[in-house]
Amino acid sequence: MENIKKAKEAIANTYSPYSKFGVGAAIKLKNGEYILGANIENSSYPLGNCAERSALFSAYSQGYRKDDIENITIIANSKDPISPCGACRQVMYELMNHDSKIILTNFEGEIKETNPKELLPYGFDLDDQK
Ligand code: THU
Repeated sequence: MENIKKAKEAIANTYSPYSKFGVGAAIKLKNGEYILGANIENSSYPLGNCAERSALFSAYSQGYRKDDIENITIIANSKDPISPCGACRQVMYELMNHDSKIILTNFEGEIKETNPKELLPYGFDLDDQK
């Protein structure tokens, strides 16, 4: 699967000297292009950024928006398919369509398919503000 190959490639650029746990993310755009992201840590630990947020912020920084995104694939050498943290769930809920595909996987090739709505039930974003 090309998506998984790209997400795995993204791990090459991880900056994770603290956790030593590289994570890669690949956004597939509807135009066929991919935008990659890796986790980027910091000696001030909370300032680290996860791979999926790196990829989404990169996509938005290049001018793409939720309707341009077909799916996102996230991979790590995790026991089960990698599970996004709460902050990433919130960011994916805001920056992706709620039914867009999120593919979670690991080096064993185990795959879980989900979407922002499922990962963040009762989520809150711009559309909920009066
Ligand atoms: N991490 C991600 O980049 N994405 C996930 O979905 C889970 C966790 C990162 C954060 C931190 O740099 C490292 O993995 C260990 O938690």
